[in-house]
Amino acid sequence: MEEKLQALRQEVESEIGGVEDEASLQNLKAKYVGRKGVLTEILKAMKDVSDSERPKIGKLVNETKVFIEGLFDTKFENLREEKKKRALSQEKIDVTLPGRGAASGALHPLTQVMEEIIDIFQRMGFQVAEGPEVETDYYNFEALNIPRNHPARDMQDTFYVTQEIVLRTHTSPVQIRVMETQEPPIKIIAPGRVYRCDSDVSHTPMFHQIEGLLVDEHITFGDLKGVITEFLRLVFGDDLGVRFRPSFFPFTEPSAEVDIECVICGGQGCRVCKETGWLEILGCGMVDPEVYKSVGYDPDKYSGFAFGMGIERITMLKFGINDIRLFFENDIRFLMQFM
Ligand code: FA5
Ligand code: MG
Repeated sequence: MEEKLQALRQEVESEIGGVEDEASLQNLKAKYVGRKGVLTEILKAMKDVSDSERPKIGKLVNETKVFIEGLFDTKFENLREEKKKRALSQEKIDVTLPGRGAASGALHPLTQVMEEIIDIFQRMGFQVAEGPEVETDYYNFEALNIPRNHPARDMQDTFYVTQEIVLRTHTSPVQIRVMETQEPPIKIIAPGRVYRCDSDVSHTPMFHQIEGLLVDEHITFGDLKGVITEFLRLVFGDDLGVRFRPSFFPFTEPSAEVDIECVICGGQGCRVCKETGWLEILGCGMVDPEVYKSVGYDPDKYSGFAFGMGIERITMLKFGINDIRLFFENDIRFLMQFM
């Protein structure tokens, strides 16, 4: 029996030496010290040992059991250590790799152009004024000489909140709000969002305008043309074709619209300029005497001009963008090009 136990110790020791993973070790442990393991069988055989021998053999068997279990414990410990070391060496951190860094934000192209335009007019002496985007029918239409049921209402497809309240269709109501509270000379611009029921490659339901208003004594159409032309020269340079085209607005007389040569197609005609070679960017004119009446100015004493331009159009032309909807899809690949 003694020899058998000694042989068992050596057998287990050498078998454990060849094990390389925890699962195999677990199986091996079951084979020797499990419920149906070799040691259990030996313990069962104790009943055949003579009474005189039993204490001695019993002690030996127990010692062997403790010894073998110790072997397994140590091996388990070693396997875990090795596994940890292997993982650590594989997950080694390369401290020489360049860092990820925080991505820095940038202004939206529309905001950039908006700020550029505001800056140009401020240098010409215009002050910035603001008005509400949810506007009354009175300021958006009536005071601007666009009575209810007048065909001119159809020029702008309006989002009505109630019969009396609209989402402003242009920044022109700010003209009225400013003139109601200030006396000439007036020299303001009013940037902001406006809304129309409109959608295609050059129209979106929400877009941005900048309004301009200059009222003083002896202001002429020549002043208007000078300011607009100088402004366009500063934004687009001297080379781009510009034209003043006679037009109609109820709140200006005479009125004009300003078109700029379509830079998308170089004036050849494309879907953005609707095959005309020109893109309309602003409406303007001399303030209509009817508007002065709404705000209590004396039309015989004062004269002035107003204009309203679309920021999206100008931005498209400046950067050669052929679809206005790109501005509002927030595709980071598009926006990154304007950083
Ligand atoms: C007006 O809104 C007038 N209030 C402009 C004005 C002001 C005239 C002061 C006289 C005096 P109009 O509807 O044409 O006019 O729009 C002005 C500009 O806004 C257009 O030239 C165009 O550049 C832009 N625009 C109009 N509709 C849209 C739209 N749905 N999406 C993007 N831009 C638009
Ligand atoms: Mg127009």
